[in-house]
Amino acid sequence: MILVTQWTVLLLLLSPALGMVEEERLALREKARAMFHHSYDNYMEHAFPHDELRPVSETYTDSLMELGNLNLEHLSPSYNGTALTLVESLSTLAVLGNTSEFEKGVSWLSENLSFDIDVRVNVFECTIRHLGGLLSAHMLASDPDTRLMPGGYSGRLLALAQDLGERLLRAFTSPTGIPYAWVNLRHGVRKGETPETSTAGCGSLILEMGTLSRLTGRHQYEDAALWALRKLWAMRSPADLMGTTLNVETGQWIEFSGGIGAGVDSFYEYLLKAYILFDEPAYWASFHKAYLAAQRFLRTGNWYQDADLRTGRPTHRQFGALQAFWPGLQVLAGDVEEARRTHRQFFAVWETFGVFPERYYYDGQAVHHSENYYPLRPELAESTYLLYQATRDPLYLKVGKTILTNLNRFTKVPGGYTSLRSAVTKEKEDHQHSYFLSETCKYLYLLFDPHPPPFLRNKQFVFTTEGHILPLGFSRVPLRAPLTAVVKPPCDTCQTINLDEHKISYMSLRVCPNWAIDSRTFKSLGGVESICHIPDGSPDHRCKNHLQCGVDAASCRHRTCSPAGFCN
Ligand SMILES: *[C@@H]1O[C@H](CO)[C@@H](O)[C@H](O)[C@H]1NC(C)=O
Ligand SMILES: *[C@@H]1O[C@H](CO)[C@@H](O)[C@H](O)[C@H]1NC(C)=O
Ligand SMILES: *[C@@H]1O[C@H](CO)[C@@H](O)[C@H](O)[C@H]1NC(C)=O
Repeated sequence: MILVTQWTVLLLLLSPALGMVEEERLALREKARAMFHHSYDNYMEHAFPHDELRPVSETYTDSLMELGNLNLEHLSPSYNGTALTLVESLSTLAVLGNTSEFEKGVSWLSENLSFDIDVRVNVFECTIRHLGGLLSAHMLASDPDTRLMPGGYSGRLLALAQDLGERLLRAFTSPTGIPYAWVNLRHGVRKGETPETSTAGCGSLILEMGTLSRLTGRHQYEDAALWALRKLWAMRSPADLMGTTLNVETGQWIEFSGGIGAGVDSFYEYLLKAYILFDEPAYWASFHKAYLAAQRFLRTGNWYQDADLRTGRPTHRQFGALQAFWPGLQVLAGDVEEARRTHRQFFAVWETFGVFPERYYYDGQAVHHSENYYPLRPELAESTYLLYQATRDPLYLKVGKTILTNLNRFTKVPGGYTSLRSAVTKEKEDHQHSYFLSETCKYLYLLFDPHPPPFLRNKQFVFTTEGHILPLGFSRVPLRAPLTAVVKPPCDTCQTINLDEHKISYMSLRVCPNWAIDSRTFKSLGGVESICHIPDGSPDHRCKNHLQCGVDAASCRHRTCSPAGFCN
């Protein structure tokens, strides 16, 4: 049973903070800015236009071809990089208000970037980093409100994104239409390419591909990503659980066990964010089912476990660092009290080690023997930022301060910020991941920034899973009906209510679900469990008018204020 005791507005509009002394907060913001510049300047000096910086040896790595490629197979010896970290930095430069550097980066990429190269890349990584980075920078550059391109903007980044999109489309040529995990940017899918992919890898492409379609007016990108997402969603169990890996040629699961972390994470994220970005209720319907199933089968206390999608039984009881995005997602879904609890639990792991170990067994309180590294992951900073936006609780500024302080203490080197080989010993690796610039630094900066640039204050937007900013409302052209063919308005009895007055979830405005199921039989129990639930304004159910009454969880009926002054 999901108990929703408090609802909060999902408006990513920023306003001045209370709590931490203003000077301290501003000082922390400047530290976050300095972190970005330390990593960015060292990348530009020692690695650009290669992909990523090796901050200890002060050299570079052309890591795009290595991302997700654990065995380092089919590498292209002549690949010289695609300025990945620069592409990833643009949206952060915009947030920092660094117009000159943004403009310089856009000019360089406009003239010099090409994807016509013989290199095998991971479709998911290339989509979220390069495609998402270019689309976001394009939208920011072409928005006159941002004033990021005083010298004018040619629109070239969109052309580059479209060229890349065409190359990535060739991955969607499997018999099921679910994309192969790997594609060669010049030659398409290799003969004999592995048919194995992950749920996140093939199920979180819709934000970038959909945005590309809507900006170019060409359907094929969104169509391909949506088709794949539909196919994937159709593979869920009757309990709405997902596995972790699958075969794109047969459409069968390979790994039946799934959780909210590695291999699945952004699948959940993109169902919800696609709903927000494209305003299509069917995405919400799917997200809601998937979310309730996760809360029912995967949540265990304030932790999350993995479960077998066929039985719902737990398989692995461990915390993975990637799971730390979940409280941020819960904030977006309006489940803020849950988000707080989850975040508190996860932050306790950070406090124990100073950073996150990649895997941690919460039952035995032990770090995984090999997956004990910390690669500068952003998810805790991201969730902390979103929770602060939702609650304005100064606690989250303090959490952010701890994150920032520890990153400087354990991962900063003269040549940048480096991943750690071990969260326990803090032994250093020699790699500065590009997401450190697009996400970790950006979320910390935004957390501490009481005066974000006007384009962030005046607009609504979503962050991609790589932290890139996609403004809402750039296009309302519905291209195809998503996920289900016939979309019923999910909540015709829930009334539209003024958000600010009622502190309810933006999400719950349109939702009237009743998908409670029996955990043993997977049969529907009828409508008792509902994200639609909105508590009455006062705990004793007293009211002066209808607006002070909430929404009934079971019927999704908006409660009314009786003549005697009680909600019923
Ligand atoms: C990469 O750089 C090397 C050395 O500068 C050069 O020989 C090679 O042709 C370059 N590869 C490509 C694809 O440009
Ligand atoms: C913009 O970024 C460049 C490169 O890091 C830096 O030298 C410059 O001082 C920055 N400008 C502002 C206004 O922060
Ligand atoms: C493109 O790259 C070349 C070689 O690095 C450089 O000289 C040129 O200035 C770049 N173009 C722009 C617009 O920065």
